[in-house]
Amino acid sequence: MFNLKGRVAVITGASSGLGRGMCKSFAECGADLVLLARRIERLEEVKKELLPYGVKVIPIKCDVTKNEEIDYAARLTEAYFGKVDILVNCAGASKDKGVLEMTDEEWQFTIDTDLSSVFKVTRAFGNIMKKNHYGRIINISSMYGLVGNTEIPTIAYHASKGGVVNFTRAAAAELAKDNITVNCICPGYFYTELTRDVLKTPKFQEFAKVHVPMQRYGNDGEINAGVIFLSSDEASYVTGVILPIDGGYTCV
Ligand SMILES: NC(=O)c1ccc[n+]([C@@H]2O[C@H](COP(=O)([O-])OP(=O)(O)OC[C@H]3O[C@@H](n4cnc5c(N)ncnc54)[C@H](OP(=O)(O)O)[C@@H]3O)[C@@H](O)[C@H]2O)c1
Repeated sequence: MFNLKGRVAVITGASSGLGRGMCKSFAECGADLVLLARRIERLEEVKKELLPYGVKVIPIKCDVTKNEEIDYAARLTEAYFGKVDILVNCAGASKDKGVLEMTDEEWQFTIDTDLSSVFKVTRAFGNIMKKNHYGRIINISSMYGLVGNTEIPTIAYHASKGGVVNFTRAAAAELAKDNITVNCICPGYFYTELTRDVLKTPKFQEFAKVHVPMQRYGNDGEINAGVIFLSSDEASYVTGVILPIDGGYTCV
């Protein structure tokens, strides 16, 4: 099961954190990879790390808020591989402020990066999938897309990630006829560049012990099995699913 040999997987946010971590799992399963992010030097590092797996790896500098860069990446991918089988929308960033303090610019930055990007990248690569009548799209939302929170004021992030959740359902319903599945993973707290400043504080570690039933953050690789399953041929009848991988945060 879960043999992705011959499949082409596009990963946004592949230069860091969760996206970078999942590239290794895709390569282990035999998928060829297209890596997207702005820091091309980081993508070149990831490519080197994946050399031992013998899969093809194409790093492309791409800002997922910019249509011209997304369209260029899609054209390049289609020209090189002739198809796209899997898309993981993982790129994300946030300006953290509460609803009464956030500026319009901070709101727009987060909505552009975390929500509009998912639409734009899905449109560009989904059209290639449609031609081939096959696709697996996995959107990385957040447990903050399912609930609010009392600890980190981050209203635009909640709104964006909640948007990704229902974007997933609507896109899944629309694209089912094209044999394209669209699913969503909602990670809990994982230690990455995005979260490390907050997660490393003793105050937050105490908070997590009380509010995460498993009483810990996610470890490296703990979302990968979910991503690989949803990317696989075996998940052919799974679409529109919202899968929290959060140590139980959203079950209480
Ligand atoms: N870590 C957590 O606890 C957690 C929890 C829930 C959800 N998530 C979600 O998981 C995803 C990955 O986050 P992470 O924790 O792994 O953070 P990270 O280590 O900061 O990685 C973020 C990735 O997104 C890319 N990115 C950001 N803005 C971009 C843009 N405009 N264009 C292209 N790429 C962009 C970054 O690449 P460049 O800077 O090189 O462009 C980087 O590869 C995000 O969607 C995040 O919201 C994370």
